[in-house]
Amino acid sequence: MASFKSRIKKLSSDKSPLILANDYESGVSDMESRTVRNIKTLSPYLCAIKFNFHFLLPLGQKQIAKINKIAHDHHMQTIADIKLNDIGNTNNVTAETLWGMGFDSVIANPIMGPGNLEKLISHAHKNNNGVISLCHMSSPEAQLTYELPVQLKSKKTILYHLFLEWATSLGADGIIVGATFPDIVSFCKKKSKGKLSIYSPGIGTQGGDIQKTIQSGSDYLIVGRTILNSKNPKETAKSLFDLAKN
Ligand code: XMP
Repeated sequence: MASFKSRIKKLSSDKSPLILANDYESGVSDMESRTVRNIKTLSPYLCAIKFNFHFLLPLGQKQIAKINKIAHDHHMQTIADIKLNDIGNTNNVTAETLWGMGFDSVIANPIMGPGNLEKLISHAHKNNNGVISLCHMSSPEAQLTYELPVQLKSKKTILYHLFLEWATSLGADGIIVGATFPDIVSFCKKKSKGKLSIYSPGIGTQGGDIQKTIQSGSDYLIVGRTILNSKNPKETAKSLFDLAKN
C-alpha cells in the first residue's frame, strides 16, 4: 500500500488540493447523513475530508468507520483533526483506534515534544498512515503562542521555527500553517526545502485567499464554512476547485 503522503498527493493531482473541513454546529442531529451527502456530492472537487473532535465525539466507532469507508469509496483521504498531544503510549493507543476506524492521518500538536512526536510518526508510518504536525495556526491569536521566543540549550529560536525543524527532521507527512499568514507559509516552504507538505486552513471565512495561499507554497487547502454554509455547496466547491486549479 502507498504511503499517506503519496495517496493524498495523487488524489490532489487527479482532482484538486481542496480538503473539506466537515464541521457542524452542536445540535445538528443528522450529521451522519449530511456528511454522506457531502462526500457524494463534493468528492469530485476534493482530495480529502477532515473531521474534528466536535464531529467525532457524538458518533460511535461504527458510524465513523462507515463514513471513512464511504470517503475512500469516493476517492478521498480522511484526516482526524484531534491535535493529538500526549505521552507516547496514549498517543499510540489513540492512533491505533483511529487507524482501526479507517482514518488515513491525524493532526498532532508537537508541543508534546520531539520524542513523542517521533514515536507517533513511526506508528503511523508502520500502518501506512500519516501525521500532520501543527506549525503555525490560522487564528490571529496564534502569534501570541506560535511566535514565542524559545531557547534550547544555547540556541535561540521561535516556537514555530522549532516545530518546523522537528516536523522536517522527524519525517512528518506535513505541517499546518494558516492561510491567514501567507508570509509564514512562504517561509516554511523555503526552509523545509520541499520535504514537507503544507496544509492551510483559514481560507474564506477566516480571511485567507486561496490563490495567494497557493502562490505562497501551500500544497493543501482546508475549507469548511465557506463551502458548508453557502447556498449551494456544490457550486462553491466547484468555484474553489477552479481557482485552485488555475
Ligand atoms: P473554516 O470553516 O474556517 O474551517 O474554513 C477551518 C477548519 O480548520 C480547522 N483549523 C485548524 N486546524 N490548525 C488546525 O489543525 C489550525 O491552525 C486551524 N485553523 C483552523 C478548524 O477547526 C476547522 O475545522
